[in-house]
Amino acid sequence: MQNPQKVQQAAAFIQKSLTAPHEAATGIILGTGLGEWAGELKCSQAFDYADIPGFPRSTVPGHAGRLMAAEIGGHKVWLQQGRFHLYEGNSPADVCMGVRTMAALGVSRIIVTNAAGALNPQFDAGGLMLITDHINFTGANPLVGPNHDDWGERFPDMSRAYCPKLGALALDKAAELGIRLERGVYLGLVGPNLETPAETRAFRIWGADAVGMSTVLEVIAARHMGLDVLGISCLTNKNLPDCMQETSLDDVLAMAGASAQKLSRLLDAVVTAL
Ligand code: 6GU
Repeated sequence: MQNPQKVQQAAAFIQKSLTAPHEAATGIILGTGLGEWAGELKCSQAFDYADIPGFPRSTVPGHAGRLMAAEIGGHKVWLQQGRFHLYEGNSPADVCMGVRTMAALGVSRIIVTNAAGALNPQFDAGGLMLITDHINFTGANPLVGPNHDDWGERFPDMSRAYCPKLGALALDKAAELGIRLERGVYLGLVGPNLETPAETRAFRIWGADAVGMSTVLEVIAARHMGLDVLGISCLTNKNLPDCMQETSLDDVLAMAGASAQKLSRLLDAVVTAL
């Protein structure tokens, strides 16, 4: 669903609550276990999701749940520390409240991050992957219902959902920093269960390199509104059909925490170079 009034209300609340103007071209969404970096940033103001009208609550451990007006390398950014998932019971429109509100606040690009399982056998747990494309296998879509023409087209193009220029910049900065950055396709699911071996095998055959429970709906909403998108996955575990390992949220959080260090250095360099 498209919910322009609700988004407008959330954006208006933030605008009127700002103690100093905050004009930012970049919005960032930090995923599971990746929020720690936010604590190190220069932050002029933070809004708890609970205080923003129309925002859902985030209920997952590892998600702080606030929208920050922050600064990175001299660039102002909006930053979502924690996001909303379908598996929490949120609607597709709820899942996209953050990205749409940041768009209403004036961002022209978003950087989405997440924790994901690696399907590509060449990728290591603890590694980072530039998302070059995605498969929306959630069965959900935030654009369903009447189209809000001020936001975007009825049938938005998705042939280049992830901005090649931003991707190239991330690859350049990763190389400069000596950080290995894989490239691959992210497949998004509802969750909350992890995959069976048969699902893992099927998704790999479809061309997916990583699998997770977020990101794809936010990217669809972002592209609909004309935002450029950069996506990076923290590969928290290997997910191979013929040697499946049990995975728990604690494992995912621990590994996300370990790769978060690399991700923060990379994001710092990328945002500074924008
Ligand atoms: Cl293995 N699967 C899914 N669906 N999400 C994940 C994951 C795996 N690892 C981190 N997030």
